[in-house]
Amino acid sequence: MSANSISAQDNIQLPSPIREGGMPLSEALSSRHSTREFDPSKPVDKQLLSNLLWSANGINRPSSGHRTNPTALNSQEIDVYLIDKSGAYLYDATSNSLLLIAEGDHRGLVAGTADFSQDFVNDAPISLVIVGDYSKFDRDPDQAMLTTMCDAGIVCQNINLFCSANGLATVPRMTMDTAGLAKVLKLKPTQRAILNNPVGYAR
Ligand SMILES: Cc1cc2nc3c(=O)[nH]c(=O)nc-3n(C[C@H](O)[C@H](O)[C@H](O)COP(=O)(O)O)c2cc1C
Repeated sequence: MSANSISAQDNIQLPSPIREGGMPLSEALSSRHSTREFDPSKPVDKQLLSNLLWSANGINRPSSGHRTNPTALNSQEIDVYLIDKSGAYLYDATSNSLLLIAEGDHRGLVAGTADFSQDFVNDAPISLVIVGDYSKFDRDPDQAMLTTMCDAGIVCQNINLFCSANGLATVPRMTMDTAGLAKVLKLKPTQRAILNNPVGYAR
């Protein structure tokens, strides 16, 4: 399917995020750890998914459009994509929905490449891929890339802590097929997949 033939029905409207609950921050920090064994039979329900995406990169001050994750100069150059067995989606924080980018199961690209892959990723019901667009910074390319990577790391830690606070399992990862993902996610040349978090329930 081409991007042009994707219709509104292919997008997924999420329930409004619930902005309270979970364990206290100090307890979430205390229990945060990486998990690499996921139960493939346990999906993440839509409400928890909405809460997770809002925590990662959602709008927490609607009057200004500012986000749960800070970005340098409020550039908001980070996007979060969700990959599950049905397709690849872009999280649109404004409409609180998932926009279908590509159909099919692309979790293998998150797992890795032919050279190095971590198969446990295919057991996680979803993976969140954190993409940065370094063209949003009007500074030298090295600085722009470094700044974008810092901003991506903050989104990743929001995900790590949300998971810890809400009984979900995750691991922050840099391993993935960045070239393959760039194609499937239809990224611009200045966008790059920087980190990913498989998410689900521990086995
Ligand atoms: C930037 C970054 C990249 C990472 N990449 C991977 C990875 O590709 N695969 C993996 O299994 N773990 C990856 N990890 C997870 C680390 O191995 C893990 O955080 C570390 O061993 C400490 O364990 P803990 O998270 O349980 O404290 C990464 C962590 C970070 C912060």
